[in-house]
Amino acid sequence: MKISILTLFPELFEPFLKTSLIGRATEKKIIEADLVSFFNFAQPKERIDSPTFGPGSGMLIKPEIIQKAIENQDQKNGKSFKIFFSPQGEKLNQKLLNSLYQKIKNQDHLLLVSSRYEGIDTRVEEYYSDLVISVGDFVLMGGDLPAMCFLESFLRLFPGIVGKTDSVESESFSGPFVDYPQYTSPLSWKAMQVPEIIRSGNHGLIQKWREKMAALKTVKKHFEWLKSYPLNQGEKNVAKEFIPPHYAVLMHNDVLLKDKSVGTTSVTSLDLHDIARAAATYGLKNYFISTPLIDQQKVVQTLMDFWQTEGPQYNIHRFQAVNLVRMVNNLDECVKLIEESKGKKPILIATSAKKHNHANLITYFDQSKVWQEDRPVLFVFGTGHGLAQHILEKCDYLLLPIEGFTDFNHLSVRSACSIIFDRWLGINIREDKIDNLS
Ligand SMILES: C[S@@+](CC[C@H](N)C(=O)[O-])C[C@H]1O[C@@H](n2cnc3c(N)ncnc32)[C@H](O)[C@@H]1O
Repeated sequence: MKISILTLFPELFEPFLKTSLIGRATEKKIIEADLVSFFNFAQPKERIDSPTFGPGSGMLIKPEIIQKAIENQDQKNGKSFKIFFSPQGEKLNQKLLNSLYQKIKNQDHLLLVSSRYEGIDTRVEEYYSDLVISVGDFVLMGGDLPAMCFLESFLRLFPGIVGKTDSVESESFSGPFVDYPQYTSPLSWKAMQVPEIIRSGNHGLIQKWREKMAALKTVKKHFEWLKSYPLNQGEKNVAKEFIPPHYAVLMHNDVLLKDKSVGTTSVTSLDLHDIARAAATYGLKNYFISTPLIDQQKVVQTLMDFWQTEGPQYNIHRFQAVNLVRMVNNLDECVKLIEESKGKKPILIATSAKKHNHANLITYFDQSKVWQEDRPVLFVFGTGHGLAQHILEKCDYLLLPIEGFTDFNHLSVRSACSIIFDRWLGINIREDKIDNLS
């Protein structure tokens, strides 16, 4: 494959193209790079850039110069597949690389346009680009490093460039889990040992251990990726082992009433059923209903008794869900029950529709922060007008309110529970990986 690289600084690419596996790929003629300087297409003493229109100072490479460079390369090496680089482009990831490889692996000519200054005149990008790639949500001074980053990740997919295809296919982001931990000699380094099991010679056990370690790392550090992957049941089971046990409590006491005083509210059968069903869907261990009022406890008990006796015949799924419900008098009792069952005090995450000042505000992407302590997690939901201040202060974290593109967020607590469970623990397959569905 011929690769034209259009840049202001060909000298940046020279050592890159001669070194290591890319150097070998050139020697083996798997690729043939054609480094082209934009300066070759400017008249002597002509400026290569010109200012952008409108307010704001910035320079762009002149469209005619890019045009001449591209058309010259296409004439010389045949019609190319053209890739531009921009922070606004499609995010480079393994999926994009794999599908691009399938699409253009037999293409004779690939052309990369690496710009500088403020970027590229929009018309040039729209007219020529087959793909615009971003290497991440940050701004570099030019497209040269993104072009090299693309080349390193793209070329390793070609047979004969990286030693074993095996190592290309089993690395991070080619499946649901990132790569497992790897070790080499010496066996002991800085008093840290190579795990016994991977020296055991038992390939089956090593394979299992690697999968577990990879799942552990992915749950702890790349949960966003894992949640977006079309997992099969076996993969879900492996991952589940490393997600700490989650609980929810619905507070009917220690909540704010309409007049802003702290008081108690009544339980509703809808909250009991619907939140139990959401809790079951997202794998919560228990859903606690907190009320100290005897008559309210009786209402809950009656509903639970029904499900415990006639429930299995009536609706087995609803029975499974309602089976997760436990009644407590207050938050402290709930915390104590979890601590007794798991041997560790739970981390309390408060929820609220309002923005409060809290020492530890968290977002829906903060699982790894919360999970690093390896303790059970308890979501605390309020009825009435929300949790009382002293309950909010008792909680270790406060989740940001749920919001849309409106100024209305008065959700029922049932809806809020479902949304929060889903954002925190829900699998949300990304469309671009849908072809892995099994
Ligand atoms: C200073 S940047 C221009 C940034 C542009 N004005 C913007 O805000 O989107 C100059 C050039 O560097 C390259 N570049 C910078 N950051 C990049 C990134 N994250 N991914 C890909 N290319 C990038 C692009 O070629 C870009 O045109």
